[in-house]
Amino acid sequence: MMKPVMTAVPEAASAPEFTHWLASRQQQVQQALLQVFSEPAGESRLQAAMQYAVLAGGKRLRPLLVYAAAEAVGGTANCADTAACAVECIHAYSLIHDDLPAMDDDVLRRGQPTCHVKFDEATAILAGDALQALAFELLATATQPALDAQVKLHMVQELALASGRNGMVAGQAMDIAATGSQPAESSLSRMHQLKTGALISASVMLGALSTGHATATQLAALRRFAQAAGLSFQIQDDILDVEASTAVTGKQQGKDARAHKATYTSVLGVEGAKLRLAQVTADAQAALQDLGTSADMLRLLAQYLAERKA
Ligand code: IPE
Ligand code: IPE
Ligand code: MG
Ligand code: MG
Ligand code: MG
Repeated sequence: MMKPVMTAVPEAASAPEFTHWLASRQQQVQQALLQVFSEPAGESRLQAAMQYAVLAGGKRLRPLLVYAAAEAVGGTANCADTAACAVECIHAYSLIHDDLPAMDDDVLRRGQPTCHVKFDEATAILAGDALQALAFELLATATQPALDAQVKLHMVQELALASGRNGMVAGQAMDIAATGSQPAESSLSRMHQLKTGALISASVMLGALSTGHATATQLAALRRFAQAAGLSFQIQDDILDVEASTAVTGKQQGKDARAHKATYTSVLGVEGAKLRLAQVTADAQAALQDLGTSADMLRLLAQYLAERKA
């Protein structure tokens, strides 16, 4: 029998269905994160800064990818809560450090003062450090679901590789080094893949792995999908920096140009960036063509990553 070709977003998953799914999974990760921070732990100012960075807002796109990937391979969202919390902790840490004076020097995030402005620089650095360690603590100590030790190890490995010297941190270093220059599109794409795409890929992989039964073929398709989706996400972030108001994004509009950042819009122009975004989004959808209707939320999420307004 021929496999159905599903490069387009499925009509069956109607917009209201997706909106409902989105809200319910956002609520689910919020509950799981509240649980993580429910016990007093460590030094109180440090704990307050960590909670400020994690619990106060955010679209929760990485946890949503975790859940959608788990569901795409026939698992349930409930098995993926720990992975969802772990990737959000790494993300929150990356934002705290990204906003520091030595990095992007931003004062506004999610419509609120950035962590170092609300607290102080030392506390913000330490909160980021502690959130990074917490992500791995969560994965290593997870008892729900009862995962095979080998699977847990695979999840820790995916997240570590995506976060560190060959992943997000490498991309951030490239971003700093490229400031003030106009890199070739190939290096720009590499930089975006690392600074943002790597954690997005890890989110998808951890979601699938958390089910305990993802096949090698499914994992390979999901990785191809996530690499394209991760790039599309950062291209749209660059476009929104130019086009979307501070009131909508909760971040200062035009900060990339003021800081002479190397972005898709600075290198290709806004229209060029939009064209590339459409191509990369199509690549993401195409990578899912052999997965069945269980991947519909993932397909819609990929479309949402590219079309989001904030
Ligand atoms: C912003 O990420 C940082 C980038 C990697 C571009 P998000 O747009 O996912 O931030 P929140 O969590 O929704 O605030
Ligand atoms: C941030 O990229 C990437 C990471 C945090 C790893 P940006 O610097 O473009 O993110 P925003 O625009 O400040 O959210
Ligand atoms: Mg940055
Ligand atoms: Mg930034
Ligand atoms: Mg940005």
